[in-house]
Parts: sequence; structure tokens; C-alpha cells
Amino acid sequence: MTVCYFTASGNCLYVARKIGGTLLSIPQLMKQDRIEIEDEAVGIVCPVYAVEMPMMVKEFLEKAKITTPYFFFIYTYGMGYAAAFAHVELSCQKAGIKLSYINAVQMVDNYLPGFEMQHQIDTLPKKNVEGKLQIICDDISNRREKSVKITAADRAQMAMYKNMLAKRILRKDTAKSYIVNDDCIRCGICAKVCPANNITVSDKVNFGDRCEVCHACLHNCPKNAIHMKSEKSSVRFRNEHITLKDIIDSNE
Ligand SMILES: Cc1cc2nc3c(=O)[nH]c(=O)nc-3n(C[C@H](O)[C@H](O)[C@H](O)COP(=O)(O)O)c2cc1C
Repeated sequence: MTVCYFTASGNCLYVARKIGGTLLSIPQLMKQDRIEIEDEAVGIVCPVYAVEMPMMVKEFLEKAKITTPYFFFIYTYGMGYAAAFAHVELSCQKAGIKLSYINAVQMVDNYLPGFEMQHQIDTLPKKNVEGKLQIICDDISNRREKSVKITAADRAQMAMYKNMLAKRILRKDTAKSYIVNDDCIRCGICAKVCPANNITVSDKVNFGDRCEVCHACLHNCPKNAIHMKSEKSSVRFRNEHITLKDIIDSNE
């Protein structure tokens, strides 16, 4: 089994590890000219962003040649995923992949303008992550099927969110407005955790226009020196089972 994952604050890496098999980082795979993956089971684990998948995961599905009789897709999310499943079904159709199984695990919502991280961390036990993960792992190891039927309501919701949320949130120039304060020691960790290779560090931190809006730089800065004007608080989050080195190894 092969599991391809995208992570910024560790939730998806934790879920991918729980599912097991050979783990491949999508940002690393995307550096290859050709991506060919063939296995008896292949899956993707990624976060919900603006009720769809990260831009890079969508590009990955367009670029990769995936050959498998059992393809699964697991989202992690914080608040709600609305028609995010329908986005997967459409992307799979486009890529010529039959989607065998789809599910989602509710975890800490790491979206800083939307949520206060300490509250998210404190209320995590209510989300029963381990219970949900057990069901998903059991479903996948028994190769159970669970797919999506796209309804007219899904299509309407997708169109609405595309204009309302995705256009506003998923902007490649987002990081240009991040504020780096005087606590920055120019250690370069932000550049190492960025899955889009969008950050360079010289006498200051420079952000380009390839931002995935994943918040990896904000959540993993060891000095908590990177901020957004719109963030709910300065508290940051990384999944308790995942280390900074794990994020660097995944995204550098
Ligand atoms: C830009 C952005 C948009 C997000 N949009 C949603 C969303 O629409 N719905 C939701 O439930 N969670 C949303 N989230 C929360 C993440 O999906 C969630 O925290 C996920 O588990 C993070 O995975 P990671 O720790 O592997 O990076 C968003 C997070 C970010 C950074």
C-alpha cells in the first residue's frame, strides 16, 4: 500500500502513519518530472482548504499516473468539509482514477484567521480522532468501498464556495502579507517547512508568489516570529505526535 500525503502542521502525516504502508510526501513527489505510482492500494491524505483540497494536491492528481485497483482519499479537517468530497470525485474522474473509498477525520483546525489555536487544542478530545481513525484504518485494511455521488446541490455549493471562499483564501500571493517580527533569528526553518519552496531567507525572510496558504511557516517557526494581521491569536499548533523534523523531512 502507498499513501501520498500533504501536511503543514502534522495532522495529515499522523493520519498517514496510522493508515500505514509506504508514505510519500506530495511536495517531494511534485519535484519529479514524471510521477508514476502503482500498488495494490494507493491513497491520498490531505487537509481541507476552503472546502476543497490544497492547490498542490489538485495539481498532483493531474500530474501523477496512479495505477491501482483500490484508490482511497482521506481528508483531515477542523470545522466542516461541505462539498470537498465532490471535488475529489471530479478530480478523480478527470485523472481517470476510480475512487474506491473516501472519508474525513475532524482534528484541530489550524486556520489562523478563523480559529483560536488554544481553544482548538483544548477541545480536541471532543472530536474523538482515535475512534474515527480506527474506523478508517479498518475500512481501508478490509478494502471497503465508500464513494460519493455528486448531486446538483453539491455542484451549487462548489460554485458558491469557489467564489466566496477559495478565491479569497487560496491566493498564491498570501504569504507576501505575512508579518515577520524582531524575534526572527533567520534560522531558515520557515523555508525548510514550506512545501511550495516559496520562502528564501537572507538578511530577512522573503515570501514569493507560490504560497499554498498551508500555514506551515506560521505554525512551525521556533521563535513564533511569523504572523498574520487577521490571526485570532498568536498561539501556534503542531500535531502532538509529529516533530518539527518530520515536517522538514516532508516538505523541504
Ligand atoms: C488555508 C486553510 C483553509 C482551511 N479550510 C478549512 C475548511 O474549509 N474546512 C475545515 O474544516 N478546515 C479547514 N482548514 C483546517 C485544516 O484542514 C485542518 O486543520 C487540517 O487538519 C490541517 O492538516 P495538517 O496539520 O496536516 O496541515 C483550513 C486550513 C487552512 C490553513
